[in-house]
Amino acid sequence: MAASNQNILFSTLLLLFLIAPASFAQQSFRPKALVAPVSKDAATLQYVTRINQRTPLVPLSLVLDLGGQFLWVDCDQNYSSSTYRPARCNSAQCSLARAGGCGDCFSAPRPGCNNNTCGVTPGNTVTSTATGGEVAEDVLSVDSTDGSNPGRVVTVTRFLFSCAPTFLLEGLASGVSGMAGLGRTRIAFPSQFASAFSFHRKFAICLSSSTTSNGVVFFGDGPYVLLPNIDASQSLTYTPLFINPVSTASAYTQGEPSAEYFIGVKSIKVDDKVVTINTTLLSIDSEGFGGTKISTVNPYTVLETSIYTALTEAFIAEAAARNITRAASVAPFGVCFSSENVLSTRLGASVPTIYLVLQNENVYWSIFGANSMVQVSEDVLCLGVVNGGEKPRTSIVLGGYQLENNLLQFDLATSRLGFSSLLFGRRTTCANFNFTSNT
Ligand SMILES: *[C@@H]1O[C@H](CO)[C@@H](O)[C@H](O)[C@H]1NC(C)=O
Ligand SMILES: *[C@@H]1O[C@H](CO)[C@@H](O)[C@H](O)[C@H]1NC(C)=O
Ligand SMILES: *[C@@H]1O[C@H](CO)[C@@H](O)[C@H](O)[C@H]1NC(C)=O
Ligand SMILES: *[C@@H]1O[C@H](CO)[C@@H](O)[C@H](O)[C@H]1NC(C)=O
Ligand SMILES: *[C@@H]1O[C@H](CO)[C@@H](O)[C@H](O)[C@H]1NC(C)=O
Repeated sequence: MAASNQNILFSTLLLLFLIAPASFAQQSFRPKALVAPVSKDAATLQYVTRINQRTPLVPLSLVLDLGGQFLWVDCDQNYSSSTYRPARCNSAQCSLARAGGCGDCFSAPRPGCNNNTCGVTPGNTVTSTATGGEVAEDVLSVDSTDGSNPGRVVTVTRFLFSCAPTFLLEGLASGVSGMAGLGRTRIAFPSQFASAFSFHRKFAICLSSSTTSNGVVFFGDGPYVLLPNIDASQSLTYTPLFINPVSTASAYTQGEPSAEYFIGVKSIKVDDKVVTINTTLLSIDSEGFGGTKISTVNPYTVLETSIYTALTEAFIAEAAARNITRAASVAPFGVCFSSENVLSTRLGASVPTIYLVLQNENVYWSIFGANSMVQVSEDVLCLGVVNGGEKPRTSIVLGGYQLENNLLQFDLATSRLGFSSLLFGRRTTCANFNFTSNT
């Protein structure tokens, strides 16, 4: 009797084991890293990623916002999901989101409008507009990766985000439904993915310069393999990341430290010449002014006026020494050149190299022609930086054009940035991730 009971138990277990593997495996499969494509929108120069959300799943295009605080999506248009859950006041979700207050909504309940919910302030960082939005959770799904290809799709069943009204999309690329924040908050993508799948709080972006082939964002640690089999995580230079104690978006996040990523530029060189600048502007002061941040929502690097003037003068002088002559400027750029005496090299136009010197003289971020010169017409190239005026909040905002085809890895736990330098030097590009699934 005992034996047969054991047999029954055994058969039941065996049966469970045989029936369950699909769902069991789904639950227990723990990805090492995740991957999503990033395209460059030709009209706005914004970088757009794609992720699936809701039940049933809907593919969403979202503007990638490196310093953004969280995911926000338009909930007023077409949000339909059986798994949408508003965050109830004083819940753990509200505290994770650092969401204050307790709100009611005086119309029929729908996603974005529920009673007894906490709210945050989603912001459109392209237009610097912000508003109130309900904190909520819904299913989110994304591809896992072994670093070389997309693998099996994985799901976060309760991914925290904020709803926003449709008007917050104004100024964003056509077809997008919100912004994907990768900032250093507990509910931005890197931290939510890291806690959902117990991997390192690391992520990497590799922006493509092409508007027709995708760049890539990885969540989790490397390898980050680009064709032809080049692991870009193997050749990174590291520099500390700094926290700005005051949010640069202080109008809507008062008293919070900034979610953005700052690095410590100590000086700037053009070729071997040091550019004379007011170094006070390079550090972040107690009010949060100054310093250097990395941004994916600025298409080009923005420099405080005195830095802009000093850098462009140095660049013009070095270019002149190479017989590269000025041409009339083409907005938004102030400094353009005839392409007549400019040779093409593997690293782009052969022009003076700009070096951002970091923690010491031996650690620098090199900006070669491919990242400095923008071809505005057949025979005119412009230096891809713009004048940010006097007293901007941040003295140097490194923009998208300067980041393209460089792999950047952000490590939140150690507060460190790894940067690859221009991948053309390694005979690959950010458009070379193999998006063919290997499952
Ligand atoms: C709403 O969703 C439907 C079905 O997914 C889609 O065809 C339509 O384009 C969407 N409309 C808007 C405004 O996003
Ligand atoms: C919120 O509560 C008020 C008052 O009880 C009610 O009139 C309103 O319809 C409710 N709104 C939602 C979205 O449930
Ligand atoms: C350098 O910049 C700081 C911060 O804007 C300013 O207070 C200071 O006057 C500047 N120094 C010089 C020499 O211009
Ligand atoms: C620049 O042009 C001058 C005059 O045409 C020439 O003598 C000189 O060699 C050129 N310099 C370079 C670096 O090409
Ligand atoms: C991309 O990955 C797929 C799946 O592993 C593979 O079959 C294909 O050969 C790869 N493409 C290239 C160009 O290596």
